[in-house]
Amino acid sequence: MKTPPLALYAHFPWCVQKCPYCDFNSYTLKETLPEDRYIEVLLRDLDAQAGQVAGRPLVSIFLGGGTPSLFSPAAIARLLEHARARLGFVDGVEITLEANPGTIERGRFSEYRAAGITRVSLGAQSFDARQLALLGRIHSADETRRAAEELHAAGLDNFNLDLMYALPGQSAADAETDLREAIALAPAHLSQYHLTIEPGTVFAAAPPVQPADEIVEEMLERSLRVLRDASFEPYEVSGYARPGRRCAHNLNYWTFGDYLGIGAGAHGKISDSARELRVRTQQTREPRRYLAADPAALVRKPIAVRDLPFEFAMNGFRLVDGFSDQQFEAGTGLSIAVLERALAPVRARGLVDRGPDHWRATPKGFRFLNDILVELLPDTDPVLA
Ligand SMILES: C[S@@+](CC[C@H](N)C(=O)[O-])C[C@H]1O[C@@H](n2cnc3c(N)ncnc32)[C@H](O)[C@@H]1O
Ligand code: SF4
Repeated sequence: MKTPPLALYAHFPWCVQKCPYCDFNSYTLKETLPEDRYIEVLLRDLDAQAGQVAGRPLVSIFLGGGTPSLFSPAAIARLLEHARARLGFVDGVEITLEANPGTIERGRFSEYRAAGITRVSLGAQSFDARQLALLGRIHSADETRRAAEELHAAGLDNFNLDLMYALPGQSAADAETDLREAIALAPAHLSQYHLTIEPGTVFAAAPPVQPADEIVEEMLERSLRVLRDASFEPYEVSGYARPGRRCAHNLNYWTFGDYLGIGAGAHGKISDSARELRVRTQQTREPRRYLAADPAALVRKPIAVRDLPFEFAMNGFRLVDGFSDQQFEAGTGLSIAVLERALAPVRARGLVDRGPDHWRATPKGFRFLNDILVELLPDTDPVLA
């Protein structure tokens, strides 16, 4: 078994203020940030996991959250130096930092760049003051604009803006205005997320009224037009990139690459070639417990062979270009015949397109990815059961 490329995800679980829609493993910071202590535990976590990926340099790193930009450039530098010394980086490694515009002081991005950051993902969400208040964001649209200016000034023009749409009371024209405001900041990448009401969040307890399906449909159509005109190509369910600016880290997830996950609640996926297994890892979720725990307490669970087609396809079909037979067979160790059989019904319904050695969701299938994936659940497909 040939191992796939290897990435690293590090989770930073604290935010200035928890947003009412967010179900990420993130917590309002109520006391001083335990910066040094958290970095020390991250380094130990990395050391404890590094043995299983010896000799495999990192193709990308993603520092996500929560709000990693609450951590100082010096703390980030310490983590990156350690990762480089322990695992090594490929040439041109992509290292992304997630940042909240409300946490960025003047000059900060230059320092992150000096620390090794090559790409930034900024949570803009909206440029409408009413929406920002409703979403419980800690920043104004002007702060997002200033953060983008800082990024350009720091030479970090490879940055993403996160936007949310289908917001309460939002019209298709409002969503388009948000998008145009974002494009005006000249990002290299845009992620557009449909506001989802997640169980256990403040919004789930008192759900805001979201626009009707026809309006959301129109938002998507207008977005695609506006983004294409500005030379952003859609390449993933929620991702648009200028030429050459696709996110290498996310592409690694969607092509079923390997990744180490360090930090509170972080997930990982590692191929164990000696045992022909793909193993999922999960760290202790709650920051206080994570800080107190032994990194070796990491939970490891091999992916059952019958779950591999679903897991692979759940990632691969997110990509506009889909995936090849060879990628499926290398990623799962299974014959492509498994997929041929299980996906015959959705091919017949026009949801999946089968090229000479290629699979992709059709434009219709892209909107009903769950209908495709359900065919790959072990209890749906008698062959996989
Ligand atoms: C970890 S956050 C990004 C960084 C930083 N924490 C921030 O919010 O500025 C990842 C992104 O997921 C999106 N997101 C989070 N919860 C969501 C939800 N319930 N529905 C849609 N998008 C959501 C937001 O766009 C958010 O920027
Ligand atoms: S959206 Fe970002 S800032 Fe808001 S709670 Fe979630 S992780 Fe924190």
